[in-house]
Amino acid sequence: MTSFPRLRLRRLRRTPGLREFARETRLTAADLVYPLFVRPGEGVREPIESMPGQSRFSPDTLLREAEAAYAEGIRALLLFGLPDEKDERGSEADAEDGVIQRTVRLLKGELPEIVVITDVCLCAYTSHGHCGIVRDGEVANDETLERLASQAASHAAAGADVVAPSDMMDGRVAAIRDALDEAGHEQTAILSYAAKYASAFYGPFREAAESAPAFGDRRGYQMDPANAEEAIREVALDLSEGADIIMVKPALAYLDVLARVKREFGAPTAAYQVSGEYAMVHAAAERGWLDGEAAMRESVLAIRRAGADLVITYAARQVARGLLSG
Ligand code: PBG
Repeated sequence: MTSFPRLRLRRLRRTPGLREFARETRLTAADLVYPLFVRPGEGVREPIESMPGQSRFSPDTLLREAEAAYAEGIRALLLFGLPDEKDERGSEADAEDGVIQRTVRLLKGELPEIVVITDVCLCAYTSHGHCGIVRDGEVANDETLERLASQAASHAAAGADVVAPSDMMDGRVAAIRDALDEAGHEQTAILSYAAKYASAFYGPFREAAESAPAFGDRRGYQMDPANAEEAIREVALDLSEGADIIMVKPALAYLDVLARVKREFGAPTAAYQVSGEYAMVHAAAERGWLDGEAAMRESVLAIRRAGADLVITYAARQVARGLLSG
């Protein structure tokens, strides 16, 4: 009689080949979405201090960056526009010659294979930095819907493959779907930021996009980090309104929500590894406290394992290069 274990899970961990064989989650460059910031001008490549390795581009330099990413296997971009002019209603958001509209036309002309996703929200376009139209100190939901629908239709007209509303207004997916269909863009998909939390992890992004609210915060529209049941209701609503892909954001602190959403709906699911998640790893790596590349890759893999089909990450190129070199 032996007291040694019969089943030894270590057997399949012994060599790289066996570990590969036993691997449950695959990560490829095609699972990644690369977010980029674009501003008017030419030859611009302005480093974003709080997000090492990331820059604000002009349309021409953004095209170069997109080509480089595409060559590394990245198949989708998420674009954020930084207009020169901001006003109360975010007029540039749906302007035909707005910075996003021009960039999308350029990208689809020069690199038609790449999937172009555009962020739909007013916060980078409004003088007050809120995600919608402000009335009496509050973001007015229904009035904002018209602006978002018009912004989305204008992105679609420029050639966006997917529009991604990140505003968290109630009813915006339906409003956007109707506006797209009415304008003949029934093939343009909607990736909705369905469960988007009022998170402290967006700090670096607001510097990058110059979109910090001038007064108050976003708790009146973004979700309370304490809530998971509510995330299920948000996702159910967005799917019923016609969302093609739903998103959980941020990612790492919300993996439980992500796993539940994937399990309950089985819909194409994205998760956003946000600016603060990216900045944290870089800050620690800069101090030599952890291996940044390995930590980033582990985070992205964990997000996939939890249930994300797509991972939106600023580290997309870095991770894709790691995958290429093995
Ligand atoms: C716009 C928007 C934000 C992010 C994506 N779209 C900021 C916010 O809601 O304040 C955050 C992305 C990131 O932190 O990387 N509403």
